[in-house]
Amino acid sequence: MWRRLLSQRHVAAAAGVAAAAGACALPSYCLQRQGSLPSDVLVSVDITERPEDKWIEVEQRKRADGFIDWQSPSSDYVRALRSLRSSFKLPVDTMLALREHFMSEAAKGLAGEPSSLKMLPTFVTKRVTGAERGDFFALDLGGTNFRVLRLRLEGDGAVGPVTSMKFSIPDEVKTGTGDALFGFLADSVARFCATECGGNPRGALGFTFSFPVEQTALNAGKLLVWNKGFGASGCLGEDVVALLQRQFESRGIELRVEALANDTVGTMEAAAYRRPDTAMGVILGTGTNACYVEKTANVAKWRGAPSDEMVLNTEWGNLQMARFMNGHDRAVDAATTNPGLQTFEKMISGMYLGEICRVALLDPTVARGFSPEARAGLAAALGARGSLESATLAAIEADTSPTLAEAEALLGGMGVRTTPRDRALVREACVCVSTRAARLSATAVGALLDHARMGDAACTVAVDGTVFEKYPWFNERMEAGLVELMGPHRADGIKLVLAKDGSGIGAAIIACLA
Ligand code: GLC
Repeated sequence: MWRRLLSQRHVAAAAGVAAAAGACALPSYCLQRQGSLPSDVLVSVDITERPEDKWIEVEQRKRADGFIDWQSPSSDYVRALRSLRSSFKLPVDTMLALREHFMSEAAKGLAGEPSSLKMLPTFVTKRVTGAERGDFFALDLGGTNFRVLRLRLEGDGAVGPVTSMKFSIPDEVKTGTGDALFGFLADSVARFCATECGGNPRGALGFTFSFPVEQTALNAGKLLVWNKGFGASGCLGEDVVALLQRQFESRGIELRVEALANDTVGTMEAAAYRRPDTAMGVILGTGTNACYVEKTANVAKWRGAPSDEMVLNTEWGNLQMARFMNGHDRAVDAATTNPGLQTFEKMISGMYLGEICRVALLDPTVARGFSPEARAGLAAALGARGSLESATLAAIEADTSPTLAEAEALLGGMGVRTTPRDRALVREACVCVSTRAARLSATAVGALLDHARMGDAACTVAVDGTVFEKYPWFNERMEAGLVELMGPHRADGIKLVLAKDGSGIGAAIIACLA
């Protein structure tokens, strides 16, 4: 479907550009050329070669290119564009090298050798059939909010009405004591039960806990490390189900945790409930990660009960990216609480996209490309870590108005006065950061499918998370990246499907399997 849409839009876009320029045979980026240029300029201003089918890039880059004064191609503005585009480019040969790196780390992780990919067994050994039925509760912890859900699995892949409540977790709770964090979760569950369930129901619960956990059973597992801004004390090495259940007991809550699941696993199972060909669950949100189905015989480190296959949690956010990081990535990483860890996540996920862009905009070569007023405004507004949110990048990219009016208002709200060219440059920084993130994500999807020996088989990749759902063009850029990495035939069989809010529902399905 997307592919069809993509090509229709491409035809329309290419036709529009060609008609406007009164030309036909040239690649569309060439139509941006005005006047005569030293031959190296287009090459170095370009992020990569731009074959005609890269219409998304061409369309989006047209705006920034439109402000280039082709008579003075070595201006500060061009240097800023060139710096951004070359820092964040991810050409296909780099994608291929990353795929090799990913597959080698995945093989080592499976064998139990030292690897940045943990490849964690999940104890989910049964396939979801879609016939599962019953009333369940689910909890979802791992991003910005904590969610409590009650739902009915109706069989035939149908989920009945879902009642849910969302609780925002204060930073001091994320980084306080384990008792306070798990107490906060139990208090939220008690509130949900009181307001939505009329008291203190009994029942089975699936607990989506989106951090690296070494599971010891379907409903037990030890926390290996915190990430995404969480850091509650006294939890590392502890069974997180026991920590929660203890808080339930002290409050008289009667729900039983039957399943502990990573959000990727929940997402995959929720999608598999409707689409049995789901091969992978991916999160592209505050963090990023993926799970997939592996033959248990290939999991050399597995010492548990025999089974044919098992869902594995790759924890791909921790893929070691030192070789692929630029100076901005290194600056972002160095300022985090876990430098050197989760480096793939730090180049992709919603928690970091804004920060990468902030650091890039303040880079002296990029900053010199702005008018003096905007440069001073950006320096003042973006001085503090975390002062540019990923949602702001998304809103700036979503602005397709001729004058970038929305971007003007957003930046103005931050005290940054801009000219149209300044806004085009800010937008270009957003495009560079998010396009690379989408292409990195596509590379990991392709690498994991190759690792899983999926061959040419058509499959569904269930994706959840705000970056995939809400960031403009993220899906299309991933699809374009998959085509480059795997070729159009194989890429065409891979359906990236939004499994919205799947992680909680999926944990309930796993509780049902239990
Ligand atoms: C982090 C966690 C991982 C989770 C991902 C997405 O990478 O380590 O378990 O799946 O975030 O929420």
